[in-house]
Amino acid sequence: MALPSFFFLLLSSTLLLALLAVVGGTTSHATFNIDEATIDDIQQSFRRGDLTSRALLEHYLNRTRALNPLLRAVIELNPDALRQADRADRERRRGDGKRRGGLHGIPVLLKDNIATGDRLNTTAGSFALLGSLVPRDSGVARKLRRAGAVIFGKASMSEWAHCRSWHIPSGWSARGGQGRNPYVLSAGPCDSSSGSAIAVAANMVSVSLGTETAGSIICPSARNSVVGIKPTVGLTSRAGVIPVTPRQDTIGPICRTVSDAVQVLEAIVGFDERDAEATREGSRYIPLGGYRQFLKKDGLKGKRLGVLRKVFLDSYDESIQKTFEEHFDTMRQRGGILIDDLEIANVESIIDPTRSGEFVATAAEFKMSLNAYLSELIESPVRSLLDVILFNDKHSNQERTKEFGQDFFLVAQNRSGLGAAERAAIANMGRLSTEGLERLMKEKQLDAVVTPDAIGSRVLAIGGYPGISVPAGYRRDGVPFGICFGGLKGSEPKLIEMAYAFEQATKLRTPPALKEHL
Ligand SMILES: *[C@@H]1O[C@H](CO)[C@@H](O)[C@H](O)[C@H]1NC(C)=O
Ligand SMILES: *[C@@H]1O[C@H](CO)[C@@H](O)[C@H](O)[C@H]1NC(C)=O
Ligand SMILES: *[C@@H]1O[C@H](CO)[C@@H](O)[C@H](O)[C@H]1NC(C)=O
Repeated sequence: MALPSFFFLLLSSTLLLALLAVVGGTTSHATFNIDEATIDDIQQSFRRGDLTSRALLEHYLNRTRALNPLLRAVIELNPDALRQADRADRERRRGDGKRRGGLHGIPVLLKDNIATGDRLNTTAGSFALLGSLVPRDSGVARKLRRAGAVIFGKASMSEWAHCRSWHIPSGWSARGGQGRNPYVLSAGPCDSSSGSAIAVAANMVSVSLGTETAGSIICPSARNSVVGIKPTVGLTSRAGVIPVTPRQDTIGPICRTVSDAVQVLEAIVGFDERDAEATREGSRYIPLGGYRQFLKKDGLKGKRLGVLRKVFLDSYDESIQKTFEEHFDTMRQRGGILIDDLEIANVESIIDPTRSGEFVATAAEFKMSLNAYLSELIESPVRSLLDVILFNDKHSNQERTKEFGQDFFLVAQNRSGLGAAERAAIANMGRLSTEGLERLMKEKQLDAVVTPDAIGSRVLAIGGYPGISVPAGYRRDGVPFGICFGGLKGSEPKLIEMAYAFEQATKLRTPPALKEHL
């Protein structure tokens, strides 16, 4: 966070005037407010010359400076970001920006497990990886740069994506501290892409990337009233991302609107030779003409949506269930066909990682894939899971490190490769998915299943299926909740149609009231 303070002195009243510039010249009097501004708003403002990438970035830096001590959403700011913003401004003046597309000049925050081959560290929130040197950009970071995005910094996260210990609270890491929900500070940000969701929710940056193994994009998006897309496993490259398990890991956008998330998704999908097998398979799902064509206001029309009550909606309190009934009505009014009260076969096994096999398989896969990741680093204080465990032992005097322990690390370290137990576990998850979600969706000819918050995450996780979370309301205590549209592999186009149409019909996101902290 070592930012020269003169950057902030530049944020004079002239910028504020620029930010309140009139949209559409003399014919429209709508004002452009930088908070809640979408990628399209920002690009329009760039084109009119009311806003530069530098001014936008400076605004976000200022806001991050003000809010981050409270929210702990950002671990590091990119010391090269202003240079990148200036370059985007120069390219735009020369007329070269258009070729790059929607992310040109837009600041993007990356979860701290997504490697960048620059001056930023990539540590999964842990001091064990501080000072390590990655060989290159991750596949998704490379694609973002190609699209002209400005790399804003690294987002805080649940340390090691929740793989160190069960006792680590969501949003906490040794390097980042405790990330806070901007709506209700005591509520917790939920799961591991916490900083990515907090930062966009609090308007500290335009858009962000998170990663999901089981719920880590969907849950923080729901809890922070933003939109998260968990892509089909293999649609986005995992190369250069600190892994949990390649069987389930996926990288996706966390943004304030479906449209923003779709633009980021479009920039990061596709083949990557360093994650060749999965991304070759995933590339087959990319529609000709990209994903933006599915941002249709009437996207719910004719769609068949399966409602999962038992185990899912039924486990929420009455007021949330009532809100969901209203949402179902809204969907029907927009032409959606709701198939109610469906059940997934063997759901109790699917949602319990000790019964599905997820726990057994992930422990072994995590050790193998983390060791492989660490062995590729150019420099690193730790080269294996064992080194990380020893590092934590040695530094157990650090704040809260002893208290939280490292029980999952120890379980994983105890495994050696994919033996009979792991192979059986993986086969079991395959069967549960085929006989579960896949059969249900085919039999009922569904386009999506809908569930509240992240409660459907394990269904999507073990099958490698995609999901999109959209803001769905606020509990009485002010904590946001989301609605998740989940579907079969490669169904992003349909999920985007439904999520966008729902968002446009409801517009439930309101920014958190953080005025007293600014
Ligand atoms: C920068 O932050 C300060 C408070 O920290 C605020 O008063 C000022 O208006 C901000 N400027 C911009 C451009 O956001
Ligand atoms: C990365 O970590 C090193 C400490 O090893 C620190 O000096 C440096 O400032 C960090 N980079 C950024 C961009 O914060
Ligand atoms: C390690 O594995 C052995 C044998 O499978 C088991 O008895 C032991 O409890 C395991 N230890 C941990 C920490 O999981």
